[in-house]
Amino acid sequence: MNWQFSFLCIAVLFIDYGFTRLTPDFIHPCPVDNRECLIQSTIDAIPFFTKGIPELGVPSLDPFYVDRLAIPLAGLKVAFFNGKVTGFRKAVIENVESNFAKRKFVVEFRSNVTLKGGYEASGRILTFPINGEGEAKIKITNLKMKVKMNIDVKPDDNGVNHLYVKNYKYDYGFGDKAHYNLTNLVKDSPELSQTLLQFMNENWKLIAEEFGKPLVDYATELALRTIEKFFLAVPYEELIDGPIPSFK
Ligand SMILES: *[C@@H]1O[C@H](CO)[C@@H](O)[C@H](O)[C@H]1NC(C)=O
Ligand SMILES: *[C@@H]1O[C@H](CO)[C@@H](O)[C@H](O)[C@H]1NC(C)=O
Repeated sequence: MNWQFSFLCIAVLFIDYGFTRLTPDFIHPCPVDNRECLIQSTIDAIPFFTKGIPELGVPSLDPFYVDRLAIPLAGLKVAFFNGKVTGFRKAVIENVESNFAKRKFVVEFRSNVTLKGGYEASGRILTFPINGEGEAKIKITNLKMKVKMNIDVKPDDNGVNHLYVKNYKYDYGFGDKAHYNLTNLVKDSPELSQTLLQFMNENWKLIAEEFGKPLVDYATELALRTIEKFFLAVPYEELIDGPIPSFK
C-alpha cells in the first residue's frame, strides 16, 4: 500500500465517521410539536425503520420473529413458535402528536398484520375440547393501535442528549376482520378440526379478543424496545429541530 492510498483511506474514514449524521437519510427532523411535520416524517420513516437499521443495532419489525410465545388462558394453553409477523411496513399512520412541555407523545396507526408459524394448543375453546399441534396463519385486517408514551430527554456518557421512553400505554381494536387458518386443531380428526376452524372464523372477533391481547402486548413491547434502541443511537438534535422545551 503506498502512502497516497493510505492517505485516501484515512480521509474516507474521516469523512464517514467524522462528518455524517448518525441518523439515516429517511429521518427528517421536525420542529417541536409540529403535528403535520411529525405525521409526514413518520410516514416517510416507517417503510425504512421497520426493515431495521443494522448499523444502529435497530432490529427489523417487518418481519419480526417470535421464537416462542405462550398464551396462558383459563382452560386453554396455547403456544406459538417459530412465528413470523409481517405487515407493519405498510402501516397507515393516522395521527402523531406531541406535547413536549408535558413530555407526551402519541402515535395512531392501522395495519394489516399476518402471523405465520407453528402452534400447540390444549384445553377448550368455549365448549370445544381441543388438543392440537400444527401450522397457524392468522391475518388481521386493519388492526388499530393508539400508543401513548411519556418521554423525556437525558444525556449519555458523552453529554449528548437522547430521547427516551419512560413508560407507555396503548389501546387497540381488531378492526375489520381476522382470519384464522390452523391445521390439525383436534389431533387425528380432520372433520372436527375443520368444524372448529369454521367456528373460529365465524366468531373471529370473540376469538381475537380472547387470544389477541398477549400477541399485541408482545408486538408493542418489541416495537417500543426497538424505538428505544433507535433513540439511544441517535442524538435528540438529529430528530427535533430547536432547543429542548422546558418541562411544565
Ligand atoms: C388492509 O387490507 C384491506 C383489504 O385488502 C384493505 O382494504 C386495507 O386498506 C388494508 N389496510 C391497510 C392499513 O393497509
Ligand atoms: C390453510 O393452510 C393450509 C396449509 O397450511 C392450506 O393447505 C390451506 O389451503 C389453507 N386454507 C385456507 C382457507 O387458507
